[in-house]
Amino acid sequence: MKQTEQPAGQSVFIKRYASYQSRVEQALPAFVGTGKEEAGGTAAEAAFYSLLAGGKRIRPVLLMATAEMLGRQSNDLLPFACAQEMIHTYSLIHDDLPCMDDDDLRRGRPTCHIVYGEAIAVLAGDYLLNKAYETLLAAINLKKPASLEAARLIARAAGGHGMIGGQVLDLAAEKRQLKADELQSLHLKKTGALIVAPVEAAAVLAGALPTVRQTLVRYAQAIGLAFQIRDDILDVTASQPELGKSTGKDERDGKSTYVSLFGLEQAEKLLESTSRTALEQLEQLDETLDKSFLMALTAYLLTRGK
Ligand code: IPE
Ligand code: IPE
Ligand code: MG
Ligand code: MG
Ligand code: MG
Repeated sequence: MKQTEQPAGQSVFIKRYASYQSRVEQALPAFVGTGKEEAGGTAAEAAFYSLLAGGKRIRPVLLMATAEMLGRQSNDLLPFACAQEMIHTYSLIHDDLPCMDDDDLRRGRPTCHIVYGEAIAVLAGDYLLNKAYETLLAAINLKKPASLEAARLIARAAGGHGMIGGQVLDLAAEKRQLKADELQSLHLKKTGALIVAPVEAAAVLAGALPTVRQTLVRYAQAIGLAFQIRDDILDVTASQPELGKSTGKDERDGKSTYVSLFGLEQAEKLLESTSRTALEQLEQLDETLDKSFLMALTAYLLTRGK
């Protein structure tokens, strides 16, 4: 995120985002290792290569920021936040494979399989998923059932009910234009689930009331959808160097996206209305809560350039 010529509120947001990011960057090697572990061989090295390649870390940031908004210190939530980022990075490594989206650029670097070969990239993804579960299991405190519930819902969101289920729908939708409601449920699973999970996990870990948890889930579903709509738009409008991944590939692959279904202009409008829905959910939360960071994050998702 650029830090120049921003209004005051914006610069507070940018600083806080950067501080969450740097906590995640520092913590990740403690959980994943440095890639030099003999035990994982080249798969560990490849996992480390993709994980520490500088993603936006939006999912762990969401977990920590939501928890803090609810009055929960976020430092001891780092295992949950980092596990979520490991699951996300694994999903990217596999998403880029030739048998899936066949991409050669990710996070500004050659994709995992370009550097390490397909077999090791598959194993690097598996390695990260396993490390994520190992990290979650180690963070569970049986005297605190919330920790078990948070781990369970992070795991569930990665599976058939969430990201994996969405990826299956995404592949099945190649060369076949989906209807609007089908596309929305695809996006909510493929991308939404890994964005809802950290927000909901934070609500659980902070001991939020069921109504607050439900409102936050609706907020996260809206930003999850907005996030993928923006991703679909950027695939058409952004330049490859600024995005750090290849562009124009959705059309090349005949993907069903918000742009292919509605056109660019309408996709922008849907992005705005989805972001408004997200903000409306935040407004429903108790007025004593400081929602400014999540509000600013929602605005950032609307305009993000990568
Ligand atoms: C990319 O996710 C894949 C989608 C779900 C659209 P991000 O845009 O969060 O990627 P990184 O983590 O910043 O690289
Ligand atoms: C990927 O969606 C979502 C995942 C589950 C990884 P995309 O295929 O659109 O993500 P990019 O554009 O390759 O990052
Ligand atoms: Mg894909
Ligand atoms: Mg892809
Ligand atoms: Mg995309």
